[in-house]
Amino acid sequence: MTTTTAPMTSAVKGSGYGRTFNFSAGPGVLPEEVIRQAQHDLWDIDGTGIGIMEHSHRGKTFDKVLAETEEACRKVANIPANYKVLFLTGGATSQNFMVPANLLPDEGVAAFLTTGYWAEKTWEESKVYSGKCYEAWDGRATKHSYCPADSELKWGAKPVYVHMCSNNTIYGTQWRNPDGSLRLPKAPDGAPIVCDMSSDIYSRPMDVTKFGMIYAGAQKNIGIAGTTLAIIREDLLKPARKLPTMLKYEVHAKDQSRHNTPPAFAIYMSGLVFKWILKQGGLATLHQKNVEKAKLIYDVLDSSKFYKGHARADSRSLMNITFKTPSEALDEAFLKEAQKHGMEQLKGHRSTGGIRASTYNAFPREGCVALAQLMKDFEKKNG
Ligand SMILES: Cc1ncc(COP(=O)(O)O)c(C=O)c1O
Repeated sequence: MTTTTAPMTSAVKGSGYGRTFNFSAGPGVLPEEVIRQAQHDLWDIDGTGIGIMEHSHRGKTFDKVLAETEEACRKVANIPANYKVLFLTGGATSQNFMVPANLLPDEGVAAFLTTGYWAEKTWEESKVYSGKCYEAWDGRATKHSYCPADSELKWGAKPVYVHMCSNNTIYGTQWRNPDGSLRLPKAPDGAPIVCDMSSDIYSRPMDVTKFGMIYAGAQKNIGIAGTTLAIIREDLLKPARKLPTMLKYEVHAKDQSRHNTPPAFAIYMSGLVFKWILKQGGLATLHQKNVEKAKLIYDVLDSSKFYKGHARADSRSLMNITFKTPSEALDEAFLKEAQKHGMEQLKGHRSTGGIRASTYNAFPREGCVALAQLMKDFEKKNG
């Protein structure tokens, strides 16, 4: 059987790197070697003469894919044995109901740290399950421009869990220390933290034992749309109420993410990305690279009177960099100019406008250099 592969250099003008600089907030850029491997395995994986998307999810080939994916996933973050690794469907958005359905008893209390657009959605959905939940932080009044200090959090009744979002994709803020490492709120009475890590998972080191549960849609840093990674401490698996089978984490854990036909290709892609992360040197190396990449752009913002960043300096995201020029017309002109230089998907989210540069793990440093240069040139011409 012969294999065919698409040419890996596209006729993109301007970027000078053979592909478009894809600043998309998600689905985001994938590592080149992951795409190359997938191209091959789509046609024939492991010499079986059958492509990855055509294999039974109960067959030996997929058994191996799933086992290797979980193994690499665990290795990347040193996930302890008392945490289950699940590959779910329905996107991170479905966790907005699965988490309270499983963890929050009727009229139980959970606390929410509302730091952005996605965190707002998570909070809203909790009300379906209990009227007693509360927001220990509400960042709406400050336009979600930062992640709060512990002293700003307003705790009420003891929560069964605290929900947070580690990186706010739309506003461009991140729970971080000055060096960009992960900062966590101090949850009251040892309440487990449930974290939506969709837009910064595996971009920096993390201590899984500090969380009750972590979940993330795969399509930004760990693969493609179609699967949601959930890492759950075993004692949280038991559902808090009677639930339909497919809603129970317990069932997905028992059946090792194969209660029904899983998103096999998406899981396979995550496996390739986890292996790629390990090859890069792991999370500490990626974090260092991400800090350097983001700095190239933040340095321009800091030395400019023309651009205005949205995030407060102490909460700046290393994954999504949000800023505006002095007017909407100039924002538009900037985006057009960027396209001429092979840079795409820089438009801010529809709810915030402006410009957003997403610089996930697989985004090349050259793209950040190019954007920083464009920002300087554009300011010189229009400032
Ligand atoms: C932080 C965060 N949470 C949740 C979501 C929603 O994810 P999904 O589209 O996989 O449901 C997104 C999507 O961009 C996100 O950035």
